[in-house]
Amino acid sequence: MGENGAVETPTAAGRSDAALDGVAPPAEDATDALLFRGVLGQFPTGVTVVTANTPDGPVGLAVGSFTSVSLDPPLVGFLPAQTSTSWPLIRDSGAFCVNVLAEDQQDLARAFATPATDRFSGRSWTAAPHSGAPILDGVLAWIDCDVAGVSEAGDHHFVLGKVRALGAATDGNPLVFFRGAYRALS
Ligand SMILES: Cc1cc2nc3c(=O)[nH]c(=O)nc-3n(C[C@H](O)[C@H](O)[C@H](O)COP(=O)(O)O)c2cc1C
Repeated sequence: MGENGAVETPTAAGRSDAALDGVAPPAEDATDALLFRGVLGQFPTGVTVVTANTPDGPVGLAVGSFTSVSLDPPLVGFLPAQTSTSWPLIRDSGAFCVNVLAEDQQDLARAFATPATDRFSGRSWTAAPHSGAPILDGVLAWIDCDVAGVSEAGDHHFVLGKVRALGAATDGNPLVFFRGAYRALS
């Protein structure tokens, strides 16, 4: 019974209709790409650039699907699209470095998400101690990994990385991606 005596109808999620005031109505067609993107875009992510050192020079792409996986052993993961042109080069190199972008690095995020550009042109970086992959100047953190496993994940791959070295800046805020736009925490 609600406060005003009205009977509340429980929803599939077990919440009352009153509790859902202001929340979009349920929509269930998981094959609707626009709906899928709109709903999943409510989940904020950090923005990383995953880099590798290849015989033809450095490669890298912007990645929001980075996640911590395991502490013991130390594992991380990310999901490159099957259409990614950098991923096969990263895989062949056998190692990668995850660069966690700071809030003032939107330009890097855009460059590494734009096809057919020289993404490293005019950018300063140092080689990660294990992989030699680029650590871009000004990033909040870097995680230097070996490729420890790759599995199929729909139209993406799931890549497991064994962490070999890592480091972080002592201050600064992250770049955040939320509802299709770059944001800052503050
Ligand atoms: C915020 C953000 C997050 C992204 N996350 C991913 C991701 O997790 N996996 C992926 O394959 N592409 C992701 N992309 C898209 C790639 O960066 C983009 O398609 C890029 O051009 C791929 O480059 P490549 O073909 O050199 O691999 C993301 C782009 C942005 C802006």
